[in-house]
Amino acid sequence: MVRGLCLFLLAAGLPTATLRAEHQDKPRKLTRPDGKPLVVGFSQIGAESAWRTAETNSIRSAAEQRGVELKIAFAQQKQTNQIKAVRSFIAQRVDFIVIAPIVERGWEPVLRQAKRAGIPVILVDRGVEVGDDSLYVTLIASDFVEEGRMAAEWLVRKLGGKGNVVQLEGTTGSAPAIDRKRGFEQVLARHPDIRIIKSQSADFTRAKGKEVMEAFLKAERGNIDAVYAHNDDMALGAIQAIEEAGLKPGEDIIIVSIDAVRAAFEAMVAGKLNATVECNPLLGPVLFDTIEKLLAGKQVPRYIKQVDRLFDQSVAAEVIDTRQY
Ligand code: AHR
Repeated sequence: MVRGLCLFLLAAGLPTATLRAEHQDKPRKLTRPDGKPLVVGFSQIGAESAWRTAETNSIRSAAEQRGVELKIAFAQQKQTNQIKAVRSFIAQRVDFIVIAPIVERGWEPVLRQAKRAGIPVILVDRGVEVGDDSLYVTLIASDFVEEGRMAAEWLVRKLGGKGNVVQLEGTTGSAPAIDRKRGFEQVLARHPDIRIIKSQSADFTRAKGKEVMEAFLKAERGNIDAVYAHNDDMALGAIQAIEEAGLKPGEDIIIVSIDAVRAAFEAMVAGKLNATVECNPLLGPVLFDTIEKLLAGKQVPRYIKQVDRLFDQSVAAEVIDTRQY
C-alpha cells in the first residue's frame, strides 16, 4: 500500500473541475515506491447495460496501459456484494479502492474501514450520501440532474408544451435514478400541460424496460405521448414493447433517454428513438490520471465533473461513426 498518502488525500482540495474525459497521449506506468505495480481494487456494479460494459472496458484498458494490477469485482447489482468486495480489497491491502456505488446510502461503515486502513477511495460514475466527506477522495461523474433537465427541455420543445409522459426509472435508490428524475421534474414543473402519468423503476435493464413499458401500454394505451427513460437500454426495451403493441416508436410515441450508447444511435438512425443525452462512461483515463496526481502529492478536486450533451435524430447519422461506445 502507498503509505502516508491517506492523510494528505483526505485533506485534499475541494472545488469542482469540469472536463470531457480526455487524457494523456502516452500514459506513464504507475508503480509503488518499491517499483512494483500499483494495485487497485475496483468494485463494479455489474453488467446491466451497454453503458456499464463500456465503463468497465475503459477502466480495464486504462489500467493495462499504465501497468496497474486491477482487481475487478462485479456485484451483480447488489450492494451487499459491493461491500464484501471492498472488505476483501481492504484485507488484501490494495493501494486504492475504486467504487461505482449501486445506491447512494449505506456506505459509511465500509468507507470508515477503508479510511482506518489508510486506503484512499475514489468514486466513479455514481455518488454516495455520507455525513463525513473525508470518507472518499473524489467523485468522477456526470451531473445526472443536468442530464434530466436536458432531456426535459428537449421533450418540452418536441411536444410543444403539452402531452402525457411515462417515465422508466433506473435502479431505486441509485444516484442517476434520483437525480435524473429530479432534473426532469424540475423542468416539467414549469410546464403544467405536460404530465407524468406513470413512473416506475425498470432497473436500468432492457428486459425490464420492455416489461414495464408493456404494463404502461396496457394501462394507458392511446394516452401516452412520450417515454422518458433514465437510460438507453430501458428505452430500447420500451421500443420493442411499443412495436409489439402495433405502434411506431419515435412517431406514435416520442422517446428520449440517456447514455448515448451506439445502439441508441442505431435506433435514432432507424427513426425509433428521438433523442439521447450523453453520459460519458469512458472514465478510465481520467481515473488513472487522478490517481497519478494523488501519487505525486497533488491536490485533486472533490468532484471531477464530466460534461455531457444531447443528440437527437437530426444529427444521429452524421455522428454515429464517431462514437466510441
Ligand atoms: O450510473 C450510470 C447509469 O448506470 C447509466 O446511465 C446506466 O446505463 C447504467 O446502468
